[in-house]
Amino acid sequence: MTEPLIVGAMVRTLGAYPSGWRYPGAHRTPQTDAEILRLVAREGEDAGLDYLFFGDWLATGPDLEFRDPYLLARIDPVSAVLFLAGVTSRIGLIATVNTTYADPYATARSLASLDVLTGGRAGINLVTGAEPRAAGNHGRDAHADNESRYDRAEEFVAALRGLWDSWSEDAWIADAERGVLIDPDGLRATDLDGRQVRVTGPLNVARPPQGRIPIVHAGTSPRSRALAATEADLALIAAPQRDDAVATRHALREIAERCGREPETLKVIAPVLPVVADTDADAHRIVERLLALVPLADDAHAGRTAFPANRSVDALADALGVDADDPLRAAAFDSAVSADEAHRLGAAGDALIERVARIAGLRVGGRSGGAGDGILRWRHLVAAHAVPAAFVVGDASTIADHFEAWRDAGAADGFNVLSAFQPAQFQAFTRLAAPELRRRGLLGRGDGVETSTLRDRLTGLRPVTRHDAP
Ligand SMILES: Cc1cc2nc3c(=O)[nH]c(=O)nc-3n(C[C@H](O)[C@H](O)[C@H](O)COP(=O)(O)O)c2cc1C
Repeated sequence: MTEPLIVGAMVRTLGAYPSGWRYPGAHRTPQTDAEILRLVAREGEDAGLDYLFFGDWLATGPDLEFRDPYLLARIDPVSAVLFLAGVTSRIGLIATVNTTYADPYATARSLASLDVLTGGRAGINLVTGAEPRAAGNHGRDAHADNESRYDRAEEFVAALRGLWDSWSEDAWIADAERGVLIDPDGLRATDLDGRQVRVTGPLNVARPPQGRIPIVHAGTSPRSRALAATEADLALIAAPQRDDAVATRHALREIAERCGREPETLKVIAPVLPVVADTDADAHRIVERLLALVPLADDAHAGRTAFPANRSVDALADALGVDADDPLRAAAFDSAVSADEAHRLGAAGDALIERVARIAGLRVGGRSGGAGDGILRWRHLVAAHAVPAAFVVGDASTIADHFEAWRDAGAADGFNVLSAFQPAQFQAFTRLAAPELRRRGLLGRGDGVETSTLRDRLTGLRPVTRHDAP
């Protein structure tokens, strides 16, 4: 029997789709609310998810309001996982750390502490950062280039591994009678003297229960792939189509094998944004609403700071290569897209229209009777093009079909589940889709195990330390 997929929640409490916070009933002020974190954590744990994942971004600014509003203000990831350590007991907790700006000793220390406090449920997602403003927040003149960032990331990983290996398994003797607390030979210096990372060690936190805390990496460049393939337990990929994911997973595992690693030990995780409801039609209506709520370049947003340039019919027409003098460029957002206009959008337009039909059940043509009538309007097309997402839309069985098809095609070893808005869409996933995934054997790596480490869940392996190895 094939083993279940790895399924985690990528937690964005303001909702992962940029208009999600506007959806009726959605949480609009999670940036000051501890309760929503608690609720998502407990819900995810009860549903049998393998981990909660917290991304990071080291700057903010008004431009994020329309692009990625969930980045504007949120609890930092290490604080979030430490908070959730106290309110969960089984689920893995993965925090993102930016290797360009973080200090390796402090990072090794806080993650080892999390691992001790949770009995081995810690994970760390290492990113090198794509936000230039982070430089100014950390006293640097400029964001380092890709090569330099990944040079540092590689040394950063070596530092973490060395520091986590500081204490051998049996170094803490605690023999009160003899008055011997530790075996000094079991406490090793790290002595890493790299070009960008220098750390002596040893670490002043006990050996983490997992020995090697699972490492996650997300990136797209060749250096990023090399880092993921050689060092990561989980590689997060951005794959819009199943074929892309198959190719990326294959490429990553090939690099892993060339580096002398067992390729199966590298698990590849794809993002998914399931919109779940009792029926496919209900789920389509949710997406129709989400698209309709994406702010567009109309009067309501005139003069707003850094409003995205791609939110007009004219911008869409440019992107699709429509003639400069085509009258469709003047279409009102709320008018229906006619069959003749759809034809003039060309092959790229066809693909976009097909995607909107798939996610929102909207069709070209017909007589429009007002919002919610299933008619494709310019508003939907502009929004779907400007704000793409890894939507999978439908009832529990439609969602499970997607997970199953990707697994069977070799596209992914698991999924990071995003929720368009909170908490209702996360709950729809955990309460409607998760039971169906479990029924099909697609979810439940931790089933029947009362206490297991995150590493056990991900790989079933627990490596010995460098020092303990024969
Ligand atoms: C699925 C996925 C999740 C990511 N999450 C984060 C994140 O939380 N924080 C961050 O700074 N960058 C994140 N990134 C961005 C990467 O760290 C990386 O900087 C970006 O993809 C550019 O690729 P490169 O670093 O390989 O050049 C993510 C990337 C992917 C593909």
